[in-house]
Amino acid sequence: MAVLAANWKLHKSTEEAVAWVQAVKASPLVPKAEIIVLPGFLQIPAVAREVDGTGVRLGAQDVFWEAAGAYTGMVSAAQAQEAGCSYALIAHSERRRFAADDDRGAGRRIRAALSSGLTPIYCVGEELETRRTGRSRAALRSQYDIGFAGLTPDEARGVIVAYEPVWAIGSGQPASPAEAAEVAQSIREGVAGRTGLANGLRILYGGSVTPENVKGYLADAGMDGVLVGSASLDAMEFLALLRAVVGNG
Ligand code: PGA
Repeated sequence: MAVLAANWKLHKSTEEAVAWVQAVKASPLVPKAEIIVLPGFLQIPAVAREVDGTGVRLGAQDVFWEAAGAYTGMVSAAQAQEAGCSYALIAHSERRRFAADDDRGAGRRIRAALSSGLTPIYCVGEELETRRTGRSRAALRSQYDIGFAGLTPDEARGVIVAYEPVWAIGSGQPASPAEAAEVAQSIREGVAGRTGLANGLRILYGGSVTPENVKGYLADAGMDGVLVGSASLDAMEFLALLRAVVGNG
């Protein structure tokens, strides 16, 4: 089943978040995709109540690696899990940029998420300058090498990777399905080399995904789903994405 993850970033009041879920959960297409909604932390309890008993799943936009202690402002994986989350986004490029998340911290967050029963969605992707100078492969390699360090093949299988080229996020300029496919293949090989996971790694594409272009990533590029920011905010547009992913039937 294709993954369709809605990353709301710093958007939506609680009322808007609840209204979105009410509009989306009524669709008969919901059970046909693995829909994951990633609200702001403060909206999680209200969204959790609203998605309860539906096929819509819930995730946090980050979790810290420690379980408890003097870490002002952090949210633990266990707290996210207790609030109803079953996924956690890890090291999104905006967290790397504005909250100083790095690969080593990502690895610790991934392990914390796994041990609390959350599925980590580990975001990797190269900057525009890195791409221009032909260093994308090496940059990605260090992201997944450090992020997956020390994981067994079974643990690695429990992680979803989201390939999100930084230059494609919110820019209206997505990577082509062929580019995404090539990177996904190198991630699969790299993670296999690192962890021994021969197959079964799930990889999403993210960066300027729309209802018009989404199908290309799934059918042509063989990705396991998409991580969507802007086009996930409006419930009607999100339902258009869902229709494009699973068809009308
Ligand atoms: P976008 O964001 O769909 O607005 O490009 C994707 C993301 O940051 O996850």
